[in-house]
Amino acid sequence: MTVFSHEAFADHEQVAFVCDAATGLKALIAIHDTSLGPALGGCRMYPYADEQAALRDVLRLSHGMTYKAAAAGLDLGGGKAVIIGDPRRQKTPELLQAMGRAVERLGGRYITAEDVGTSVADFAEVRKTTGHVVGLPTELGGSGDPSPTTALGVFYGLNAAARHRWGATRLSGCAVAVQGLGNVGWHLCQLLHEAGASLTISDLDESRVAKAVATFSACAVAPEAIYAAEVDIFAPCAMGAVLDDTSIARLSCGIVGGAANNQLAREDHGEQLRARGILYAPDFVINAGGMIRVASERTGYDQDFVDRGVEGIGRTLQAIFESAEAAGVPTQTAALRHARARLARARGGHALAA
Ligand code: NAI
Repeated sequence: MTVFSHEAFADHEQVAFVCDAATGLKALIAIHDTSLGPALGGCRMYPYADEQAALRDVLRLSHGMTYKAAAAGLDLGGGKAVIIGDPRRQKTPELLQAMGRAVERLGGRYITAEDVGTSVADFAEVRKTTGHVVGLPTELGGSGDPSPTTALGVFYGLNAAARHRWGATRLSGCAVAVQGLGNVGWHLCQLLHEAGASLTISDLDESRVAKAVATFSACAVAPEAIYAAEVDIFAPCAMGAVLDDTSIARLSCGIVGGAANNQLAREDHGEQLRARGILYAPDFVINAGGMIRVASERTGYDQDFVDRGVEGIGRTLQAIFESAEAAGVPTQTAALRHARARLARARGGHALAA
């Protein structure tokens, strides 16, 4: 297994390989950069095909968290953890506690939270062995499920994009395609519906699709058909890497912005969107609401701090759209420049490796 020469290594400060034979825990914890503060990022549990796939995932996700925190103005670094295993069969209280011990050994350099395959309730177990955890249930003093806040940030971001693209002051009358009706996608549909947008939706789970059709008078399409839907906005809220050569060619919208992480399959897909005249709201900027919410738990949950931070997503995007236009670069490039400038200031002028 290559680590230092891995194509996704990106000068990570630390990568910990964790094993606890008694509970069957095998995990990786990646700390990308702590220039702005301790590394915060979720802990994913997934039945990876092999260890290389787990390593690639943790490195890419942790790298992305550095930029998300920097762009959101948070004093936090980027990190992520992955547990190799099937959450439905292998997740036990003992395994979660062993993961907590591994986090504790890092002495606070990494702060963990829920992610795909783990839940807010699981972190009640993790908390028994480490204090370096956020996103706890409200009854344990945490801020609960971050998904509604992520959805609100996406909603503000889409409003900013519509203002920039069309001078629209609200989303009333806009046609929006939402891919994925999970925790974030569902809340986003609610906000868009209340704002008077019309919805086209897709999900692999047919019961969620039926519920959205009934609740929001949404138009359901098959998962692959969502890219070609004739809408104003496409909001990816399911998986990453959905914007590739094929899907971008099929898009029939003016704006792309949603909650999914790592939406661009490759960096140059940002340029492809620009060439097609589609305004892309960079994922790590528009989906930072949940991170802002859980980050506030570190110093005692503060609703004003969260409200200000989430509203700020729209303003940050507006500045990124303007600087991308002025420099003639894709919005993804402008967003990375914005985050890197903050990181370079924190690092005494030393830029972070790309
Ligand atoms: P979730 O797991 O609750 O929902 C995902 C939904 O997408 C599920 O309903 C699933 O059936 C559906 N789906 C999967 N593949 C699909 C496909 N090909 N076509 C249509 N639907 C498909 O996840 P959640 O929490 O809603 O997150 C959504 C995305 O946003 C994920 O990529 C996540 O990493 C990202 N994200 C979530 C945050 C949060 O606060 N929950 C914060 C930042 C990013």
